[in-house]
Amino acid sequence: MRLMLAPMEGVIDHTMRELLTSLGGVDRCVTEFVRVTERLLPPRVFYRLCPELAHGGKTASGVPVYVQLLGGQPAVMAENAARAAELGAPGIDLNFGCPARTVNRSDGGAILLREPRRVHDITAAVRAAVPAHIPVTVKTRLGFEDNALFADIAMGIEAAGATELTVHARTKRDGYRPPAYWDSIADVRERVSLPVIANGEIWSVDDALRCREVTGCTDLMLGRGVLCRPDLPRLVAAATANGDTCEPLAWNAITPLLLRFFALTLRDYDAHCAGNPLKQWLVYLRGYFPQAGPLFEQVKRLHDPDTISAVLRDAQSVHGDKRLAA
Ligand SMILES: Cc1cc2nc3c(=O)[nH]c(=O)nc-3n(C[C@H](O)[C@H](O)[C@H](O)COP(=O)(O)O)c2cc1C
Repeated sequence: MRLMLAPMEGVIDHTMRELLTSLGGVDRCVTEFVRVTERLLPPRVFYRLCPELAHGGKTASGVPVYVQLLGGQPAVMAENAARAAELGAPGIDLNFGCPARTVNRSDGGAILLREPRRVHDITAAVRAAVPAHIPVTVKTRLGFEDNALFADIAMGIEAAGATELTVHARTKRDGYRPPAYWDSIADVRERVSLPVIANGEIWSVDDALRCREVTGCTDLMLGRGVLCRPDLPRLVAAATANGDTCEPLAWNAITPLLLRFFALTLRDYDAHCAGNPLKQWLVYLRGYFPQAGPLFEQVKRLHDPDTISAVLRDAQSVHGDKRLAA
């Protein structure tokens, strides 16, 4: 079984990927989307969203990072995919799932699910432009308004030569409202032979096991669940490998991770806004660790990095396991 860390624009950037992959269990990451409109983008755009390109396309823990492209025109998508591959991307992922209105209005993301032919053509053009040894994967939702076209879309993606298909088990219209319709993935999985990766609403080991059972998929992609419980991939990997359980991280192991994450963001962000990713992560962590709530309240109006670090160190001296901060 393989576990993929979901792409999440504005949330899972290279610092978050570095931290999360260091905890184990993740087999592959995907970047936030690179928006492709009408031209070949300069290398700096790819390096900004995927600094790992300068390190063989892998995180510091050696996990490959595929570059995700989002756009509606086959030729320019192909040109940009070829560039990402030249720059060292270990794989190219195509986004046909983004529900954002601004993106959909400008011919990108989930709106393309209304046109299975175009999804096919984009995938085929990218496949043809990228060296054969580099995988081209596709990420979709079940459809735009409903899932009526989904089988056609999936079969078209297979016919276009995609290596794998990841399905977020909701339509664009469903937004992020639970549930995720895992059974719809099962229907389509039986009609294609390329590997299908199931995604959506996996928050626990139990969810992961049920999702595999319902969809029949071996591989899973995990998003928000990992931000709430950073060790979720490791726990799922252990449970599926041999039915073992491994010890979940307690809050006292999370506080040192927060310090480590803040140190990583300080490396790359302006000092004044370096606390923002940390605050955002605390909001996700609150979903599983109630202790993250009061800590968020303590830091939410702080900007000075030294003050934020001091609050985190205090939290660690109360709760933390200092070895994990190293
Ligand atoms: C804030 C946010 C940003 C996202 N950005 C992307 C993105 O850049 N590319 C993409 O394919 N999906 C994106 N997604 C969708 C996720 O990859 C994933 O499909 C979705 O969150 C469902 O999985 P989950 O329930 O495990 O979170 C985003 C989701 C969220 C909540």
